[in-house]
Amino acid sequence: MNRNLRKTVIAGNWKMNKTPAEAVKLIEELKVVAENKKNCDIIICVPFVDLPAAVEACKGTDIKVGAQNVHFEKSGAFTGEISADMLLELGVNYVIIGHSERRQYFGETDDTVNLRTKAALEAGLTVILCIGELLNEREDGITAEVLSMQTKKALKGLTAEQMKKVIIAYEPVWAIGTGKTATAQQADEACGIVRDTVASIFDKAVADATTIQYGGSMNAKNAAELLSMENVDGGLIGGASLKAPDFGVIIDAAQ
Ligand code: PGA
Repeated sequence: MNRNLRKTVIAGNWKMNKTPAEAVKLIEELKVVAENKKNCDIIICVPFVDLPAAVEACKGTDIKVGAQNVHFEKSGAFTGEISADMLLELGVNYVIIGHSERRQYFGETDDTVNLRTKAALEAGLTVILCIGELLNEREDGITAEVLSMQTKKALKGLTAEQMKKVIIAYEPVWAIGTGKTATAQQADEACGIVRDTVASIFDKAVADATTIQYGGSMNAKNAAELLSMENVDGGLIGGASLKAPDFGVIIDAAQ
């Protein structure tokens, strides 16, 4: 019903895969499968060192380039970190924030996710904000509470205007890289909970206009069903985004 109020976004999360030369090779294949697919935005989020090569290789195509993290300070003594301005100067316009692997392995918290989101938006980046429940949280019946809390904490202090540059990716942690996908109904229900939370923070118009993706073992086989759901406005795809034919099938499913 409200699907035409928001953009469908298919984004690849390459994680720690592909050297710059390998990235260019994969992008050459992706260009073919991404050509003339006007009904969705296509983004690839690549490792930091691949960004210049990826931006160059994607020039003149419909593929947009994103990073997988960004620091919240503008500059300073933060060894190993990258600022939003550094990304923008490279021609990067998107960034994933709060991926569960960052939360699990690198101490990312809801508070740092919020700080990074604000810094990225203030600099002019579009954010792909990741949230999602753990397996034990789903089993304990607190998925709705977890999603609502993560959404509220991540979006704290944002304006409705800034929400135009926020994409939310619902990624159940138990489905990431495991081959276990949420059912279409589970994905739709969870994305709906996130949308209701966005409506409670801002209003229905903002919620209706917010792209909410599903992520977690989305692949060429299950994408069409997941993407057919009312509240699923796209996908954040890990493993399957590294294979051009599979990513192509997912892009086609979004048409
Ligand atoms: P996956 O990863 O598709 O390999 O499960 C998704 C993600 O981590 O964004």
